[in-house]
Amino acid sequence: MMGVPPSEYETVLRCSNVILSGGDRDIIPPGTDPLLAALDAGVTLTGIMDELGQFRMENPIDDITSALVNSEIESERLTRQELSSFFVLLITAGNETTRTAIAHGLLALTEHPDQKARLLADYEGLAGTATDEIVRWASPVIWMRRTLSRDHTMSGVDLKTGDKVLLFYNSANRDATAFVDPDVFDVGRRPNDHYGFGAPGPHFCLGAHLARREITVMFEKLLRRYPHIHSIGGPAQQQGNFVNGIKRLAYSF
Ligand code: HEM
Repeated sequence: MMGVPPSEYETVLRCSNVILSGGDRDIIPPGTDPLLAALDAGVTLTGIMDELGQFRMENPIDDITSALVNSEIESERLTRQELSSFFVLLITAGNETTRTAIAHGLLALTEHPDQKARLLADYEGLAGTATDEIVRWASPVIWMRRTLSRDHTMSGVDLKTGDKVLLFYNSANRDATAFVDPDVFDVGRRPNDHYGFGAPGPHFCLGAHLARREITVMFEKLLRRYPHIHSIGGPAQQQGNFVNGIKRLAYSF
């Protein structure tokens, strides 16, 4: 969608892995400081976008990069730096999260064979609710941080302007006051106002619709072709507290 040339796919994947690695030694190059490795990966991605943006300014096609570099709102354009930052955000926010949700989805369906059987029996009817339940269950993004712009009292706790607070999406997604049987994986869960994509508001995940589509299509194809697919053994959990990542998950079909 961004128009990244296939020759750069490998690099983009490696860099986004490194940025969200949480310092995991399996992902960052050996002997490298995790922070420097992340900065380095950011510089590489910025370079790719910079080149792409310049090219698409002169050779626009029907892709997001062309739209971004050639758009003007109230005679303002995105700067090169803004473009690159947005690219890094889109790439990292879009790849790791969706991949993680899919891996957790396979794990959850394996661990809950009754739910898998239900889904297989009526994929069309349950795909929508199952996809959201996978995102709630997985909570691929664990937290975000906010800085208070005004004083606020929450659950009896006084918070002041400038305070920094963490939003733990995984915790909110298992809140027994918000969900019936929150620790039950239910592919037909309805309602399911989960926080896997963040809370409603200006920062709600920009890619939620795309992510839902990707997860739905992936499981439709996977389950249709390999209805017996299941994970084997436990997942190799990614280090770090930001992304609930799965590095490897063995499977059989
Ligand atoms: C299952 C997959 C995904 C999950 C679980 C997820 C989760 C999240 C969460 C929790 C946030 C933070 C919301 C907040 O700050 O309150 C977020 C923001 C964001 N996501 Fe996603 N995301 C997913 C897929 C995607 C995809 C596919 C894209 C783009 C292609 C994307 C782009 C973004 C962007 C740009 C933001 C920042 C929005 C802003 O602060 O204005 N995400 N996502």
